[in-house]
Amino acid sequence: MAGPLDGRTAVVTGASRGIGLACASALAGAGARVALVARSSADLAAHARELGRGAVALTCDVADAHAVQAALAELRRLLGADAPDLLVNNAGHFAVAPLESTSPETFARTLGVNLAAPFLFVHGVVPGMKARGSGHLVTIGSVADHVAFAGNAAYAASKYGLRGLHEVLRVELRGTGVRTTLVSPGPVDTDLWSPANLAARPGAPARERMLDSRAVADAVLYAVTQPPDVNVDELRLSYR
Ligand SMILES: NC(=O)c1ccc[n+]([C@@H]2O[C@H](COP(=O)([O-])OP(=O)(O)OC[C@H]3O[C@@H](n4cnc5c(N)ncnc54)[C@H](OP(=O)(O)O)[C@@H]3O)[C@@H](O)[C@H]2O)c1
Repeated sequence: MAGPLDGRTAVVTGASRGIGLACASALAGAGARVALVARSSADLAAHARELGRGAVALTCDVADAHAVQAALAELRRLLGADAPDLLVNNAGHFAVAPLESTSPETFARTLGVNLAAPFLFVHGVVPGMKARGSGHLVTIGSVADHVAFAGNAAYAASKYGLRGLHEVLRVELRGTGVRTTLVSPGPVDTDLWSPANLAARPGAPARERMLDSRAVADAVLYAVTQPPDVNVDELRLSYR
């Protein structure tokens, strides 16, 4: 059966589990050929096989600029010189700690994965998208990109910054045919909520009250399947 994304290629970072895997699955289900990017090679390869439709696994530490360049080159070798049509910048690092207990290394790592890596991927794909006059950049933000929570110095700095990057892209790319969407979920029930993160965040909802990853994937799918003249600027999701 024909899908709305038949013939399109997509890259999803952080696709080895959680929200990224749900997005990869939704995009493949709609017909896209998906490249799954993360560090866990065995998991990625298994998921690519399960998704089918020509999905490929690309092992990459997105905090490593050279590895990102190599992944983009490999992506074009595997999926074609015009790939990708869609980019979902999703890979994320989350560690809850008061500012004085946040090491400079943790701060730098969080900004590297959550902010510098999306910049590198966008920087690598935007010229081709602009030349073709089409493409879609989806950024997975967070409620923490517009609300301050105690213990979130590193994470909020990265996600507020990421929202800034999205807003500038929206302005710079308007009229080029390249669309941009920020999807900012509240708490989602994934491995990101390790027992340590949950214990360090009193007041966080119980995991069973959190959003399901598929809700975020549905929001992404909604944004990328709108008619070409419609840009979904931002979607904010919260649990009931
Ligand atoms: N869960 C929530 O409550 C929530 C709420 C709002 C927004 N978000 C955002 O949603 C995104 C996905 O989070 P999630 O909840 O799905 O978390 P998760 O289950 O912990 O998954 C994180 C993903 O990012 C990948 N990743 C982490 N560091 C990486 C690196 N250096 N290089 C490549 N891949 C890396 C992981 O793969 P490997 O470990 O295999 O590399 C994994 O696939 C993040 O941007 C997060 O900030 C999550």
